[in-house]
Amino acid sequence: MATRVAVIGLGYWGPNLMRNLTLIPDVQVIAGCDLSIRRLERMMRRFPNVREFTTDCDILLRRPDIDAVVIATPVETHYKLAKKALLHDKDVFIEKPMTASSEEAEELIKICEERGRILMVGHTFLYNPAVRKVKEIIDKGDLGQIYYITSTRINLGIHRKDANVIWDLAAHDFSIIIYWLGEDPLYVYTVGKDFILNGVPDVAFLHVVFPSGVIADLQVSWLAPSKVRNITVVGSDKMIIYDDTSSYEKVRIFDSGVDYSEPETFGEFQLSYRTGDILSPKIDSIEPLRLEMQHFIECIRERTNPMTDGYNGLRVVRALELAERSMKDTGLRLISEKSKKG
Ligand SMILES: NC(=O)c1ccc[n+]([C@@H]2O[C@H](COP(=O)([O-])OP(=O)(O)OC[C@H]3O[C@@H](n4cnc5c(N)ncnc54)[C@H](O)[C@@H]3O)[C@@H](O)[C@H]2O)c1
Repeated sequence: MATRVAVIGLGYWGPNLMRNLTLIPDVQVIAGCDLSIRRLERMMRRFPNVREFTTDCDILLRRPDIDAVVIATPVETHYKLAKKALLHDKDVFIEKPMTASSEEAEELIKICEERGRILMVGHTFLYNPAVRKVKEIIDKGDLGQIYYITSTRINLGIHRKDANVIWDLAAHDFSIIIYWLGEDPLYVYTVGKDFILNGVPDVAFLHVVFPSGVIADLQVSWLAPSKVRNITVVGSDKMIIYDDTSSYEKVRIFDSGVDYSEPETFGEFQLSYRTGDILSPKIDSIEPLRLEMQHFIECIRERTNPMTDGYNGLRVVRALELAERSMKDTGLRLISEKSKKG
C-alpha cells in the first residue's frame, strides 16, 4: 500500500520536499498546506497530481487517510505543528532546526516515543554523499588524529525573520561536525552582529571545543559577496577540503602534514613538512533531498528509527542554544583606564 503524505509549509523549501516525495515509488502526496493562498495557487499549478491544497492544517491532521506529514514552516512553528501531528498519530518529518528550544525538542521526543511514531529531522547534509564520504574516511582513521575543523558558510541573503544566522546556517555545520566526530560541543564562544535587521544577527563567528580536544571555527553569514560552502578537516596524517559548491571535486584529500622527530640533542627539534598526493574520490551525484525523503519513507514502512531522529535534532538544538547564549554574554572586557583609577 502506498504511503500517504501531506506537506505543511510551501514557501522556499517545502516545494523541494514535495517534488522529491512525488518521485518516490509508492508514495502518494495527498495534500499540501500553507497559510498563503498565493503560494497555494502556485503549488496547484506546479503539482497538478496533488489532490488537495488548504490553508487549514488541522483539517489535514484529522484525516485518517494521511499517514505522515512533512513540516517545512518557520522554526517557531515546528513544535506546535509537530506536536499536533504526533498527537493525531502521524509520522512526522520536521525541517531543521528541529525546534526553537531544547525543552520543545525533548517534549516532542517524549510524545513520539509514547505514541510509537517516527520522528525525523531535516539535517539534509547527513544525506549528502560528500559528507558521508568524509565520515567514511574519518572512521577508517585515514586522517590520523583530528586536530581541528574550519567551516565557512556564507552568501548574500536570504535574511530570515524567524531565525538568526546561527539557527539558520550553523545548524548545518553542527549537524555535520557532530556526525563526523560523534561527539557534542563542550564549549562554544560566539561573536555575532545584526547589521541589517535589528535584533537578528546576520554574521557570526563561532569557536567550538569538543571533549576529544578537537577545536572548530565556524563562520556563518548572510552578508558576503559570494557563496562559500567550505569545510577543512586537519588531521595528523592527512587533511580534507570539502567544497559543497564544487561540481567535480567536492572532496579533496591532501596527503599533507608535519612530521616531528624527537630531538637528538637538547634544544634541537626536527620538523619536516610533507605535501604529497591530492586525491579526489568519486562522489555519487544523487540529490541529498531524494535520499533524505527516501529514508523517511523507509523508516515509516519498516518502523525503524531515522538516522536523523529526534535525539539527533535535539543535539543540534543544544549546540545552537550554547552558541546563541555565548553571543549574548558580554564576554571578557578590558577594564577601562577610568574605572581602574576609580
Ligand atoms: N534543509 C535545508 O537545507 C533547508 C533549506 C532551507 C530551509 N530549510 C528549513 O525549512 C523551513 C522553512 O524554511 P523556508 O525557507 O521554506 O521558509 P519560508 O518562509 O520561505 O516558507 C515557510 C512557509 O510556511 C508557511 N507557514 C507558516 N506557518 C504555517 C502554518 N502554521 N501552517 C502552514 N503553513 C505555514 C508560510 O506561509 C511560508 O510559505 C525552516 O525550518 C528552514 O530552516 C531547510
